[in-house]
Amino acid sequence: MLPAYIPSPVAAVFGGGKPIDGGKTLGDGRRILGDGKTYRGLLSGIFFGMVVGLLQMYYLSMNSMLFSVELPSFAGNGVNATVVIFALAFGSLFGDMFMSFFKRRLGLKRGAPLPVVDQLDFVFGAWLLTYIIAPGWFTANFTASIIIVLLVLTPVLHLSTNIIGYFIGVKNEPW
Ligand code: CTP
Ligand code: MG
Repeated sequence: MLPAYIPSPVAAVFGGGKPIDGGKTLGDGRRILGDGKTYRGLLSGIFFGMVVGLLQMYYLSMNSMLFSVELPSFAGNGVNATVVIFALAFGSLFGDMFMSFFKRRLGLKRGAPLPVVDQLDFVFGAWLLTYIIAPGWFTANFTASIIIVLLVLTPVLHLSTNIIGYFIGVKNEPW
């Protein structure tokens, strides 16, 4: 999950500048995505998410265990590991953008909380894209029990990371 977890905090740190929607509004008078979704956030997030995934691959090439846990591989089931890492990183920010689109349609301003969605949109985005690109790899690695653990663990991780982000001044809201 690391290549999917890294992009959001990286986007919060390095984001800003030109918004992806170019400042445009839709027929409902609201922004397409809003100022919280920028090119810099998207590109830096994908970049660092992929760097971390590639470092994991490098580690795995020398060592198959970490703290006596056997590590899974991004490769296998006939897919290229780099493609899987990209799908996890891009999918996470795509899920986040998709839900911002949805939040704007609901009339929620940038940064307004939408519980559960805010904590899990990037996980579903990452899983969906990875499933589309590499279904065999996805089902082999994300078993039902792993999915359940991640659905419980991720909101806790997300909230604690955002509280830190709020206090160090890179997030406007602690959620
Ligand atoms: N960010 C960015 N580009 C992205 C995603 C995030 O620049 N593609 C940055 C923005 O500075 C954003 C911050 O990361 O404010 C936190 O992201 P998020 O909580 O997803 O955005 P919000 O500002 O809460 O906006 P929204 O209501 O659309 O979720
Ligand atoms: Mg938010």
